[in-house]
Amino acid sequence: MRILVLGGTRFLGYTVAGEAVRRGHEVVCAARGAAGEVPVGARLVKVDRDREDGLAGLVGERFDAVVDVATISYEWVRRALDAFGEQVGHWTFVSSISAYADPGRPPGGVGDPLLPPKAVHGTREAMREDPDLYGSVKVASEQAVTAAVGPKALVVRAGLITGPGDEFDRFGYWPQRLVRGGRVLVPDVDHQVQYVDVRDLAAWIVDAAEQGTTGIFDGVGPSLPLLDLLASIADTLGADVEFVKVAPQELLDRGVQPWAGPRSLPLWLPESHSYMAARDATPALDAGLTPRSLADAVAGALDHERTLGIDRERKAGLTPDEEAELLAHP
Ligand SMILES: NC(=O)c1ccc[n+]([C@@H]2O[C@H](COP(=O)([O-])OP(=O)(O)OC[C@H]3O[C@@H](n4cnc5c(N)ncnc54)[C@H](OP(=O)(O)O)[C@@H]3O)[C@@H](O)[C@H]2O)c1
Repeated sequence: MRILVLGGTRFLGYTVAGEAVRRGHEVVCAARGAAGEVPVGARLVKVDRDREDGLAGLVGERFDAVVDVATISYEWVRRALDAFGEQVGHWTFVSSISAYADPGRPPGGVGDPLLPPKAVHGTREAMREDPDLYGSVKVASEQAVTAAVGPKALVVRAGLITGPGDEFDRFGYWPQRLVRGGRVLVPDVDHQVQYVDVRDLAAWIVDAAEQGTTGIFDGVGPSLPLLDLLASIADTLGADVEFVKVAPQELLDRGVQPWAGPRSLPLWLPESHSYMAARDATPALDAGLTPRSLADAVAGALDHERTLGIDRERKAGLTPDEEAELLAHP
């Protein structure tokens, strides 16, 4: 097949392009090339999707399938649909579970209420002012995809994506922390978490293009309680750890943030989002998403952490000094 990956220079798009090349497909990646290289065997066509005529470099090209990872721009999605929607046989749009309106309630399925759509181009500044903007742009983008190419579209509402190439430092915090062993500060919570390894998500997306899988899915693995996940990660690493559980309010009082960012405990969900990572993975698993073992996922995340440098300034998590100070004065 000839596959167009709109993206392809980093993380998920890169992994999709690499998997498609590995299977013998002809792969064109369309991006600026600013984020990195495309995988060996794929061809980069430089485009700037911020421009109205940004896809001009692809005029005359024909594709069997498109994979669009447009993060937060309705305009990017619409222009791509205008350019290639009619000719291709299969279209994947990567959306997010952030599209759901109420992550504080137990989920039903992909029919759960969504955020109000916003057909705009999101910027960092706008996202700081409106935390729901990312999800709202994803909703508008999904709607554009469904309206233009619905019967041949796969919409994947991805959950937390982990593994090689992850630049958010969230999941990776735990393997690198747990492998060090000792007393480990954890939130005393019972909410569920779930993740999907980038390699498994990419393989499923390429499968879908090959097999014509369509529909809307939550792209997530099975959910489990956060503390069970951490215990299982420690087990797979053979790490000798003692969990020191601290109540969420006390962590907040001491300046520790949930989920992500500096001085945080990654994957801990705030009350308002306590069901965000408890979505039903069954439809995606039935449609072919095949999660690798936790040991494999953890090994991939830990290798990636080591490549980035364990002692780097992290985007998410506690520094060893911060954790030691918090543990010293429980
Ligand atoms: N990470 C998670 O845990 C998570 C969770 C849920 C959903 N998602 C979704 O999963 C997807 C992840 O995608 P990803 O990892 O491949 O990459 P990404 O970080 O979302 O970047 C997307 C691509 O856009 C390209 N790009 C940026 N500006 C551009 C421009 N002006 N013109 C053309 N291309 C441009 C980048 O390449 P250049 O800079 O080289 O142009 C890059 O290849 C996104 O849709 C995200 O919303 C992620």
